Amino acid sequence: MDDWQKAGKIAAEAREYAKEICRIGKTYTYVADKVEEFIIKKGAFPAFPMDISVNSIAAHYCPYINDENVLEKGDLVKLDIGAHVNGAVADNACTVEIGTDEHKELILASKDACDAGCEKAIPGAMIKNIGKVIDETIRSHGFVPITNLSGHGLDRWIVHDAPTIPNYDNGNEMKLEEGQHIAIEPFATDGIGSVKEGKPCGVYAFLEKKPVRLDSARKLMSQIEKDYKTLPFTERWLKDVKNIKFLLKLLEQAEVVKQYTVLPEKNGGMVSQYENTVCVGKGVTTKI
Ligand code: CO
Repeated sequence: MDDWQKAGKIAAEAREYAKEICRIGKTYTYVADKVEEFIIKKGAFPAFPMDISVNSIAAHYCPYINDENVLEKGDLVKLDIGAHVNGAVADNACTVEIGTDEHKELILASKDACDAGCEKAIPGAMIKNIGKVIDETIRSHGFVPITNLSGHGLDRWIVHDAPTIPNYDNGNEMKLEEGQHIAIEPFATDGIGSVKEGKPCGVYAFLEKKPVRLDSARKLMSQIEKDYKTLPFTERWLKDVKNIKFLLKLLEQAEVVKQYTVLPEKNGGMVSQYENTVCVGKGVTTKI
């Protein structure tokens, strides 16, 4: 099994595990800590901090340090999980409902769209046709895709690489090539089909080394570069570093790191998401 396949298998197992432990009354922090621990125990590392995005939050909600948010009955929860082995990244996601089945159809819309997109992702397939089948599948369930979120290419140490895999027909006639790794990632909503930028989410990525005056900030910069390279990381992983929030703020201001934002649906619509990683020509790697 190569690094990509190993990462895929572990990411998929982590997704199943995450589903099991998402229960009423559990904190988001508990779930993310447990899932990230699981990935490490299995022999990989998190490719990015686990996202737990609830209801109209489409993506990028990551528990902050001491985040006390709790899963509640009726929550529609997107679990987005990545694993890497020597930098080879697998990215996958699913949606669960806590204690109800009110959004069955919305969940099915993104799941079916993801399956249809993965099936189409064969050597020689045009990128626009993957978007097209995702769009059509979601609409056949009575919902719309979120068009300003997309799937993406994957490379060593890079989670979001070219090409963009759209959730609609974007006219891109570029063809997929054998052996390419891509993530197919449809989002379905009963809202307007678009996300906006919300609050900063406490997830960062290293940009480049710059002169920083404070000794402890410089030390943190080196630690980040060494441990995460270009992969996203969260303040939660660094909670034991003294004055971490202040130091990250300094590094952000110096443009050593950038911070991501939470992505809510523009009209407050409910959102479901599904995602799998495909090795073009070989099939889905995020399968158990
Ligand atoms: Co992704």
